[in-house]
Amino acid sequence: MDTELTSPRSDGTRHAAGPDGPEPSRHAADPIDSLPPTFRWGVATSSYQIEGAVAEDGRTPSIWDTFCRVPGAVANGDDGDVACDHYHRMPADVALIADLGLDTYRFSVAWPRVQPGGRGPANPAGLAFYDRLVDELLGRGVDPWVTLYHWDLPQELEDAGGWPVRDTAYRFADYAELVFARLGDRVKTWTTLNEPWCSAMLGYAYGDHAPGRRDLGDGIAAVHHLLLGHGLATQRLRAAAPAPVELGITLNLAPADPATDSPADRDAARAADGLANRIYLDPLFHGRYPQDVLADLAAEGVRVPVRDGDLEVIATPIDVLGVNYYFGQLHSGVDEQGRERDEGGRPVRRVVPRDLPRTAMGWEIVPESFTDLLVRLHRDYPGVPLVITENGAAFDDRPDEDGFVADDDRVAYLTEHLRAVARARSAGADVRGYFAWSLLDNFEWAYGYDKRFGIVRVDYDTQRRTPKRSALWYRDTVRRVRDRA
Ligand code: FCB
Repeated sequence: MDTELTSPRSDGTRHAAGPDGPEPSRHAADPIDSLPPTFRWGVATSSYQIEGAVAEDGRTPSIWDTFCRVPGAVANGDDGDVACDHYHRMPADVALIADLGLDTYRFSVAWPRVQPGGRGPANPAGLAFYDRLVDELLGRGVDPWVTLYHWDLPQELEDAGGWPVRDTAYRFADYAELVFARLGDRVKTWTTLNEPWCSAMLGYAYGDHAPGRRDLGDGIAAVHHLLLGHGLATQRLRAAAPAPVELGITLNLAPADPATDSPADRDAARAADGLANRIYLDPLFHGRYPQDVLADLAAEGVRVPVRDGDLEVIATPIDVLGVNYYFGQLHSGVDEQGRERDEGGRPVRRVVPRDLPRTAMGWEIVPESFTDLLVRLHRDYPGVPLVITENGAAFDDRPDEDGFVADDDRVAYLTEHLRAVARARSAGADVRGYFAWSLLDNFEWAYGYDKRFGIVRVDYDTQRRTPKRSALWYRDTVRRVRDRA
């Protein structure tokens, strides 16, 4: 089933033969080789997923610490208490990145570590960790790329209402400024938020992620306050920056195609695209919420709590849009019995599974949708450079007795998705970099440690790290592309 995706380069050990490589004709044909020498190559992680040390050096609980203690919320009752123990193993993890020859490391800062409780002065011990991390990276020739918020909201702010409350946006801007004051002299690229869709909708509307609330109105209020927090933080950082910095946001964009050309299916795809993608992209780049999405929400009795001036703040110009891509979906507005309305009289909205290879998450493998997405961003939201801030896959890894994983499925996934990026570039999309998710196997949110996305295996009993075949393949691919330049 996976064979059509398997690249001729799926064995990471096969092409160390130098710039011309053993298979020049295939090299010439591989779109990956068209990526330019200036392309940024990296890996991404996030604080709660790898750090552990949740009660050390003054860190206070985040909503994820709390959520993990809710029975049934996370697979196997897993939590981030230890995770990959990165807090204590940071220099060795940075060495792994440097040894792979990557130029950028995207990591996130844990808000409750650097500003316990989410307000007030900085915690010097918490900031010192990121200070050391940045210095360690720079000392190894790796650029730090900071994400300020990758979902670990201080619990105290949730107790005060969380993201559905407007004040949280202002708390976020204060926190952003405080981190920037310490790291802004060395960190040149800053992402405000990672995937506000997940924070807002999984956290507040659907209840699958912390804090586990289930109210559409709360979810939509969270969308708006996250975007407002992004805009406020962008303005504060821009004002505080002594020299030019790159500021941006990372969105998880979900291509939504209609299952058929019927009006009902097209409308279902429109609605899905609206709530997943355009509700973020339009205010950020056009300074307005999409009318059709507002109408869909109004039909559910929900309105976006916009105040005068908010949209100007949200549309503050940014320098880079981070794109996280994992899969695409087909949508239908007709149920299996052919009805277009459900029992409550609402339009049917349904994802139609396709007969495609899937990852261990059950996500369909659709690299073509990645190309389409990037080309569409270039068309509908032109002028902002794109960087792929996450892309990767979980598979059921089987380590050998030395802990090595010959993850040809992951190599195939990454190969096909990098090709998809290269094709989008050829079609005009201004994509400037690619970061694999993730450096390490880690705490995969509600799935706990069950799902492994790392290109480096983590043995959670010993904390031993073993690069998988995908890590070696990535190292060799980056080297090959750079050498060709
Ligand atoms: C993204 C998240 C990241 C990780 C990957 C698999 O949505 O940003 O933390 O969970 O999915």
